[in-house]
Amino acid sequence: MEVKTSLLDNMIGVGDMVLLEPLSEDSFLGNLKKRFDHSEIYTYIGSVVISMNPYRSLPIYTPEKVEEYRNRNFYELSPHIYALADEAYRSLRDQDKDQCILITGESGAGKTEASKLVMSYVAAVCGKGHEVNKVKEQLLQSNPVLEAFGNAKTVRNDNSSRFGKYMDIEFDFKGDPLGGVISNYLLEKSRVVKQPRGERNFHVFYQLLSGASDDTLRKLKLDRDFSKYNYLSLDSAAVSGLDDAANFRTVRNAMQIVGFMEDEVQSVLELVAAVLKLGNIEFKPESRCNGTDESRVKDKNDLKEMCELLGIEQSVLERAFSYRTVEAKMEKVSTTLNVAQAYYARDALAKNLYSRLFSWLVTRINESIQAQTKARHKVMGVLDIYGFEIFEDNSFEQFIINYCNEKLQQIFIELTLREEQEEYVREGIEWTNIEYFNNAIICDLIENNQNGILAMLDEECLRPGTVTDETFLDKLNTICADHQHFESRLNKNSKFLNDHSLPHNCFRIQHYAGKVLYRVEGFVDKNNDLLYRDLSQAMYKANHSLIKQLFPEGNPAKVNLKRPLTAGFQFRASVGTLMRNLQTKNPNYIRCIKPNDKKASHIFTDSLVRHQVRYLGLMENVRVRRAGYAFRQPYEPCLERYKMLCKRTWPHWKGPAREGVEVLMADLQIPTEEISYGRSKIFIRNPRTLFFLEEKRKQCLQDLATLIQKIYRGWKCRTHFLLMKKSQIVVAAWYRRYAQQKKYRNIKSATTMVQSYTRGWQARKLLRELKHQKRCEEAVTTIAAFWHGTQARLELRRLKQEVRNKHAVTVIWAYWQGTKARRELRRLKEEARRKHAVALIWAYWQGLKVRREYRKFFRANAGKKIYDFTIQRIIQKYFLGLKSSMPSMSPIDRKWPARPYGFLDGVHTELRKIFHHWRCKKYRDQFTEEKKAVYEEKLEASEIFKDKKALYPNSVSQPFKGDYLEISKNPKYQKLNSAVDEKVLLADVVNKINRANGKGTPRIFLLTKKNFVLADQKTGQVKASIPLPDVTSVSVSTQKDGFFALKLKEGSASAVKGDFLLSSEHLIEIITKLHRIGATAADREKLKVDISDEFLVQFKQDKVCVKFIQSSPKNGNSISCKRKNNRLLEVSVPTSP
Ligand SMILES: Nc1ncnc2c1ncn2[C@@H]1O[C@H](COP(=O)(O)OP(=O)(O)OP(=O)(O)O)[C@@H](O)[C@H]1O
Ligand SMILES: [Mg+2]
Repeated sequence: MEVKTSLLDNMIGVGDMVLLEPLSEDSFLGNLKKRFDHSEIYTYIGSVVISMNPYRSLPIYTPEKVEEYRNRNFYELSPHIYALADEAYRSLRDQDKDQCILITGESGAGKTEASKLVMSYVAAVCGKGHEVNKVKEQLLQSNPVLEAFGNAKTVRNDNSSRFGKYMDIEFDFKGDPLGGVISNYLLEKSRVVKQPRGERNFHVFYQLLSGASDDTLRKLKLDRDFSKYNYLSLDSAAVSGLDDAANFRTVRNAMQIVGFMEDEVQSVLELVAAVLKLGNIEFKPESRCNGTDESRVKDKNDLKEMCELLGIEQSVLERAFSYRTVEAKMEKVSTTLNVAQAYYARDALAKNLYSRLFSWLVTRINESIQAQTKARHKVMGVLDIYGFEIFEDNSFEQFIINYCNEKLQQIFIELTLREEQEEYVREGIEWTNIEYFNNAIICDLIENNQNGILAMLDEECLRPGTVTDETFLDKLNTICADHQHFESRLNKNSKFLNDHSLPHNCFRIQHYAGKVLYRVEGFVDKNNDLLYRDLSQAMYKANHSLIKQLFPEGNPAKVNLKRPLTAGFQFRASVGTLMRNLQTKNPNYIRCIKPNDKKASHIFTDSLVRHQVRYLGLMENVRVRRAGYAFRQPYEPCLERYKMLCKRTWPHWKGPAREGVEVLMADLQIPTEEISYGRSKIFIRNPRTLFFLEEKRKQCLQDLATLIQKIYRGWKCRTHFLLMKKSQIVVAAWYRRYAQQKKYRNIKSATTMVQSYTRGWQARKLLRELKHQKRCEEAVTTIAAFWHGTQARLELRRLKQEVRNKHAVTVIWAYWQGTKARRELRRLKEEARRKHAVALIWAYWQGLKVRREYRKFFRANAGKKIYDFTIQRIIQKYFLGLKSSMPSMSPIDRKWPARPYGFLDGVHTELRKIFHHWRCKKYRDQFTEEKKAVYEEKLEASEIFKDKKALYPNSVSQPFKGDYLEISKNPKYQKLNSAVDEKVLLADVVNKINRANGKGTPRIFLLTKKNFVLADQKTGQVKASIPLPDVTSVSVSTQKDGFFALKLKEGSASAVKGDFLLSSEHLIEIITKLHRIGATAADREKLKVDISDEFLVQFKQDKVCVKFIQSSPKNGNSISCKRKNNRLLEVSVPTSP
């Protein structure tokens, strides 16, 4: 962070009036104005802060600003209220000095704002943590609550404090806030019932009516309309820049944070509502018989509602507004109230109700914010009191307020001007006295116990007889006549007899801040602050917890006949206490100045500021400051604080403190003009010197801290080391013992081990010797065995060698013979080859000779030979090609390779035939006997019918099954089967054609080797059994029909009944089988098969001609047989499509 080293940097005008050159009132104002125009609202006079009200929000209160001013020296940065707050807080925290912040200035100068800024700064820089934050929050939130109830809009200030407030903030030794205590001073309660023109009642009334929810207002029996309430002034109900509704929410929230219970808030609001209701109660006179007027409540509705709100019996309150009971010793006198008195009583009740509520609020807040611990606290007091004010019409309240401001000015003068100058003289410091106005004389005029205005007012109030404001003024005129600050028309010295600015019922006081004209009307009443006992008792009777608490004097059991203390007396006492309290603390001044009367920003009214500068005594302040010293301190604490900065004074100075300080300052080479040595104190002229000392001290403290740390760490390390050393010895002893034990155990176990090894070794050695001995013995035997073995093997080898030698002789002989033989053979072969070669050469030679001789003959025969050779090659190629492209072995495969040459045509066809025959033969060779028979049958059928009967082609593909009825298996034909004792070759159902009508009757047809049998199809009964030899021929047509006639041998037994004309689907098979049986039987002739479309059939005696005709397919597909006449049966067979 950048560190500004002085407030002189970037300064507008001068930041500290002490530096102003030349110093005059004009230059003072010029400097203030210049700074004000540049938004520099703070200026110092030494350690006093002058604050100009900017009447606008400036960006100088940000958290960054707080950080900037935090822990910085007062003159290090440009003037700011934060610098003062920081200085005060740090003195409190670090030097344990209780502080008070005195904020003064006239109404609207910015005191309340300044106090809030100080509080918020302190809250921001002090400690943090959940509890601390809660305390801070409660302290800060007490402000909006008190402002709502205690502030009001006046002509001077829209948020004018109408009460004095002094708040002690308590801190622990670390500087963390622990809590606080608020003291309040005399609330301007007359405002509750009446407000001067252009002013408002207290904020809370407007806030409640604007901000409360409809529901809340209904509960409080209020209407959201200011005009309905007599106590609310209407002409400035709405204040620009004030959002009453929002403020109401803020106040409610603040009350919650401060710790108000919900029912407490409700009670408070009920009281506020009750005050408004009270204002609406009006009275009318009612004549009594004794001629006097008695007041009566006009419209009881508001009274009723108010009583309901506060739980008061209506009649009790109504009575209290009509009668007054006065108790004196044993007497109790009740008098009636007239209308004026009733109004007075009503207003007194309203004022009391409100002011007591306000005091209760302060007490309640204190309960919440008070410190929880009883430990000693450091205290920072913040005083924000109503400012000095001069209105058109000034009354008792203004008198009190201005008295309070006089007292504050007095304390300022006491501490900054008089006290300081007196101190210089006391201490023997060279000093030229500076003149200033001391307002002690005005304070005396007001508060003097014998003839002070307040004392006289009290006297007047307590005096028996008729007491009025006028009698009070008379008294003042008499007693204060000579006082130079008291002015009155009827003054004894008649100096003001002709002063028309001074009305008869007024007196004027020349305050430090100007002359104020006070109207005496109401002084006595306000000082008495009288509330009729009937009313306080009525309040006490209320069924409302808060009201009861507020009017304890209404308790009939505690009737106190003593007069209550007057308001003036109470105020004087509390101001006295406050002043004494402030004097015990280190004061920090904020002097607020109002730049203009218009509440406007940027306007600097020269005369107004000049007036304030004058009465605040700021010029005198600067002068004293310039001539004087910034800092002083008794020698002892000074030496104590800075003795570490010099080797001679550190750590202890033996001589007197003053000498010690002198030595110290000389050692630090502080210029002599910077310091003066008084009798008991040292005076430091410039704050910079003090800062230098403080800076040095800080550094030195750091070095000391380092030294302490170093020594402490050394001590700690040494202690630790010694402890470690001691421990190490113990540990080492224990360890050595343990190590020795371990070593001994190791040696012991090693010895045992060595022993065992030695013993083992010895045993092994012995064993080895014994083994060696044994082995030697065994070796002798083995050697002997080996020796004998060797001898034996040698002998054996010798014998083998002998045999081998013999064999070798034989082999060599054989080889020799072989070699000889091979040589002979080679020779012979060579010879033979030679002979062959000779023969060959001879042959070649002969050939050559022959060829030479026969060359001409050779040429003549060559053509034929080449031809033959070529033909031979072609045929050879043909055969080889044929071989590779032979068709399959299936007899029905018609493929045959194409012939390559035309001249091979015959051969090719022949070969195909041969191949086919051969293939068929191969195929036939595979047949079983049964299959062969079947094919033979088929062959026979072919021979009989092929190209003769149209039915034949269809039958080729049908296998000859023979037994179509499965006669042997079918139980139905069991009887029939048993009747035929031979093997059945064929069994089928045929139609026996009736001669009479040509229709067919189904019959079972059985064929055995010897007979054929016709039997009934249903019953199986044999109808006819004909031996086959009796069948001579069979006739069939050429067509597709299945008709056949079995003709029997004439004269045979079977022929008696005639031939059989039958029809069957298996005609081909039946006739083939019949034909085969005939062919195979040796005793019979071959069965004759006639194939013709017209044949004769012998039926008993008659021969009938069966004629087959072809019918067109149109007449149906079925074959029909019709009897044409006695001798003709016509069978029409449809032609194939
Ligand atoms: N530092 C400031 N910054 C901005 N506005 C300020 C500042 N100080 C004061 N004001 C304005 O001036 C108004 C009056 O200030 P404040 O209420 O503090 O006066 P006061 O001295 O307390 O007067 P009174 O004696 O009547 O209570 C404030 O409401 C605010 O608008
Ligand atoms: Mg104020």
